[in-house]
Amino acid sequence: MKVGNTHYRSIWFDAEKAKVMIIDQRWLPHEFRVVELDGLDEFATAIRDMWVRGAPLIGATAAYGIAIEMQRNASDEALDNAWERLNETRPTAVNLRWALDEMRKVLSALPESERARAAFRKAEEINDADVETNRMIGVHGLEIIKKIAATKKSGEAVNILTHCNAGWLATVDWGTATSPMYHAAAAGIPLHVWVDETRPRNQGAQLTSWEMNSHGIPHHLIVDNAGGHLMQHGEVDLVIVGTDRTTASGDVCNKIGTYLKALAAHDNNVPFYVALPSSTIDWTVDDGVREIPIEERDDREVTHVFGRLEDGSVASVQISPDGTPGGNPAFDVTPARLVTGLITERGVAEATREGLLELFPERRDAA
Ligand code: MRU
Repeated sequence: MKVGNTHYRSIWFDAEKAKVMIIDQRWLPHEFRVVELDGLDEFATAIRDMWVRGAPLIGATAAYGIAIEMQRNASDEALDNAWERLNETRPTAVNLRWALDEMRKVLSALPESERARAAFRKAEEINDADVETNRMIGVHGLEIIKKIAATKKSGEAVNILTHCNAGWLATVDWGTATSPMYHAAAAGIPLHVWVDETRPRNQGAQLTSWEMNSHGIPHHLIVDNAGGHLMQHGEVDLVIVGTDRTTASGDVCNKIGTYLKALAAHDNNVPFYVALPSSTIDWTVDDGVREIPIEERDDREVTHVFGRLEDGSVASVQISPDGTPGGNPAFDVTPARLVTGLITERGVAEATREGLLELFPERRDAA
């Protein structure tokens, strides 16, 4: 998507520098910093410490991480070690493991001498495919927004609530939850987006708001607890969120707080959609609440907030008393029964095993 007049992806290979470049998301919206990633250690740090984040993007980054490591050492041992190092960085988003498996499948079948080039080809393929997948999510999601727009008076906006950042910054481009919004805006449908701030790291406040601003989509930033109230007063037409892992039966694991939005949406008959590339489906898992590992992050993310001071500098400030410990589960699971539909690159599925298998019949034998 565009930053100013320039088209950016959130990650790319700069052929002139022969380096992988990323937008370092820790500094947004206050500073737009592009940095290069060098060596396996730095790739692992960038994922773990959330210079890049969002399920599809951490998979795409890991793919390049393997490619960079194959340039240094293309042995089986180095490949396995890189797989392990990158896989352990963040436990919840299954796209990470998916991308690592895709890389290893291709590379382990090749002689060492061919691995470095093949790894870059495969990483580029994974990145390009992510862009097209998310574009298609937008094409299918647009139909949902169009139907709601058709029930509105002329010029009246469709109000969409979203949580966290499932935008283009969380993918290679387009975003998952935001792709239908960008498509709807391009189709001239009046839109308004309620952006949940998404404590503790404020991905909504810092990243989704920045995206909405950059693309001229009318929006308001709201505190995480406002959604239920807005739904009770008819101010939300639909919810669209992303996901870090979706089970074969349609349970959805996403940023902490998503479950409460789904409960409020259910209670108020507001459609609750989840947008995802099929690489986010974990076909080996059925019961999301019991089986999906939930990342616990540093309690400093809860006791401190990061932002811009009045003098223009950016800083982290403590908001709780000395000695109060924070608890920081980073994701929660929304049971399939609360999900209206799963917007995938192949169309919109019912959030059930059968619904998913209708769109992905090649999984039937494996299921
Ligand atoms: O901890 P984060 O910022 O990586 O969490 C991101 C989310 O929860 C997104 O909603 C999810 O990855 C879907 S991104 C298209």
